[in-house]
Amino acid sequence: MESPRPLDTVRYIEEQKAVKLINQRKLPETFEYFTAKTVEDVAYAIKNMIVRGAPAIGITAAYGMKLFADTYKGKDFEHDARRALELLKRTRPTGKNLFRALNHIEKAIDKGPEAVIKAADEVVEKEKEYERRIADRSLKFVEMISEKLGKKEITFHTHCNAGRLATYGLFGTATAPIYVAHRNGYRVRAIVDETRPVLQGARLTARELSVAGIDTTVIPDTAIGLALMKGLSDVVVVGADRVCKDRSVTNKIGTYVLATLAKRHNVPFVVVAPTSTFDECTFDNPPPIEERDEREVRYIRDVKIVPDGARVLNYAFDITPAELINYVISEKGIHEVNPI
Ligand code: MRU
Repeated sequence: MESPRPLDTVRYIEEQKAVKLINQRKLPETFEYFTAKTVEDVAYAIKNMIVRGAPAIGITAAYGMKLFADTYKGKDFEHDARRALELLKRTRPTGKNLFRALNHIEKAIDKGPEAVIKAADEVVEKEKEYERRIADRSLKFVEMISEKLGKKEITFHTHCNAGRLATYGLFGTATAPIYVAHRNGYRVRAIVDETRPVLQGARLTARELSVAGIDTTVIPDTAIGLALMKGLSDVVVVGADRVCKDRSVTNKIGTYVLATLAKRHNVPFVVVAPTSTFDECTFDNPPPIEERDEREVRYIRDVKIVPDGARVLNYAFDITPAELINYVISEKGIHEVNPI
């Protein structure tokens, strides 16, 4: 599949020695960049979700180490680079790509700054290549699903943002089938869950897809059941923060609800992720689930909606067991989990 002009979700700016990120906290109202000049700035951007989405986090962390190596002026590179690496590892615990990227770079630290820069660039090139290949696999998937549905009109239902804002910026992962179907003459619609509390669906995916000319409808997460019951969606496509070896999947909180209801209403449920997201975890030995600041739930913008007398739980991710998943699409192909 020919790549579109990439969205510059995350870029290394050689002349400025900086990592430039689309500031996703400001979307959809304001499109502005965040410029990270130090590895501490990069860690801040990941932790505070200026950049988010498993592949984009991995790429950003890799560029964080590149920035560190490229600007290093100290005396003990190996010691200081390990500290920088640990700082990045402590940002977000759930997505696999961060750790895969940093583990790859770690092996180069004792060889010096040039080797770290090379390893970081390798991480990014790999993620880019995976994204391209996922788009090719997605076209095969779209053809298959269209044949099963007996129509060239497909309504995709997605959750959170596993789009171009969550990757290097070509096709995204869960959005790849949507973009390739749209490009290949299918009549495409998208239903996007709002995705409380950070609203990645409403703020990011709805913006991304509607800017690309895709007919997009946002629903509150509470409407998922009724939407599926009414038959509004033909297929659910989501991304992943980890695909476990038993094919259970950790993804944005609410994915499990969506998968459970999709199964109940016979709507195929498909996970799209590069193998850089795959891990040795299982449903019984799951990855760590990040719990984020309670203020994300307690407040909407600056307005307090949960009284002080009540506690808040803010799990950022959940786990969907393999029995609820029909297919996993990676750059390697369409993996059948519970084929339809
Ligand atoms: O907390 P976020 O916004 O980083 O969570 C993002 C998701 O859960 C995505 O679905 C996942 O990382 C895949 S992104 C291609």
